[in-house]
Amino acid sequence: MMDEKKPARDWPEKLLTWFDGHKRDLPWREDKPRNPYHVWISEIMLQQTRTEAVKPYFNSWMERFPTIHDLAEAEEAEVLHQWQGLGYYSRARNIHKAAREMEETYGSRLPDDKAAILALPGIGNYTAGAILSMAYGKKEGAIDGNVLRVYARLYQVEEDILKSRGRKEIESLVEATLPDRAGDFNEALMDLGADVCIPKNPRCSLCPLAGECVAFRNGKEKELPRRSAKKPPKEEAAACGLCIREGRVLLHKRPSKGMLASMWEFPMALAEKEEDAKKGLEQLLSGTTEDCLWTYKHVFTHRIWHMKAYPVKEVAVPEGEYRWFSPEEYREIPLAGPHARLAAFVEKMVD
Ligand code: ADE
Repeated sequence: MMDEKKPARDWPEKLLTWFDGHKRDLPWREDKPRNPYHVWISEIMLQQTRTEAVKPYFNSWMERFPTIHDLAEAEEAEVLHQWQGLGYYSRARNIHKAAREMEETYGSRLPDDKAAILALPGIGNYTAGAILSMAYGKKEGAIDGNVLRVYARLYQVEEDILKSRGRKEIESLVEATLPDRAGDFNEALMDLGADVCIPKNPRCSLCPLAGECVAFRNGKEKELPRRSAKKPPKEEAAACGLCIREGRVLLHKRPSKGMLASMWEFPMALAEKEEDAKKGLEQLLSGTTEDCLWTYKHVFTHRIWHMKAYPVKEVAVPEGEYRWFSPEEYREIPLAGPHARLAAFVEKMVD
């Protein structure tokens, strides 16, 4: 730490007072007491997705799977379908596996023991801390990107927060400052990070902790947190084939491992250059492509697909998991991320 002065010891109480007056109304916060199943599902959904985008998914999930038992009984395809559009489908698969473990081992309930929660698929330190503190009233931290940013500014942590030294420094600060109302405290940090202590232009004039914040005092709030440069995402051209026969479209099921595992997609070829992707598609389907009808840029965390869709004539269906689907049928299957958008486009075309 660069500065002698530290935030006053009672800053967590100030933050909690602010939270009591400003907390966001969110569907998973409505239960009193909090429902552990609701906390768990919302936390997983919120890991890679904005709060506003999560709300409708959360509500419709709870209508379809009101309890852990309902979720454990469902087929995986239905769980993936319910997740469709949220991305990072391994999250949905892990939720389903974890629900089945809870059904078998814990009487369809989420355990309240840290080691047991951490042993479930898809639950790491952050999610375990969030569930234990918010749903079970335990004194546990839940360190996500928001919390790292707020602490880095409040204590003027100069270390890179993406490296282990910076992270460890913040972990020990969190440990030393957690109040009894740890669940509310964790959510208060999230709300502060989402609305006030935001990444680019922090709104310090609205911040209940501005008087405590060492970075703010030293005019460093925009410089912090420090983070190492990320590798740029890999950009690929993705040529997708529109093969339509008697109102049905040809789709392919992706392999059961890896990116977008087991989800359906339009026949597709990836390459560095657009021309090569198009040629790859023609080879895959032993057909000829016509003019591109649809383009879309899809940004994943580590990858960007520049997608183009071409009608393909004289198709020979390749070996592997390919099937013809009517629009009624493909509405019911899990489509791989951006391919759901292409399906919506094709639906208009087939009508
Ligand atoms: N982001 C992650 N968890 C959250 C929560 N419980 N409330 C609001 N935003 C969040």
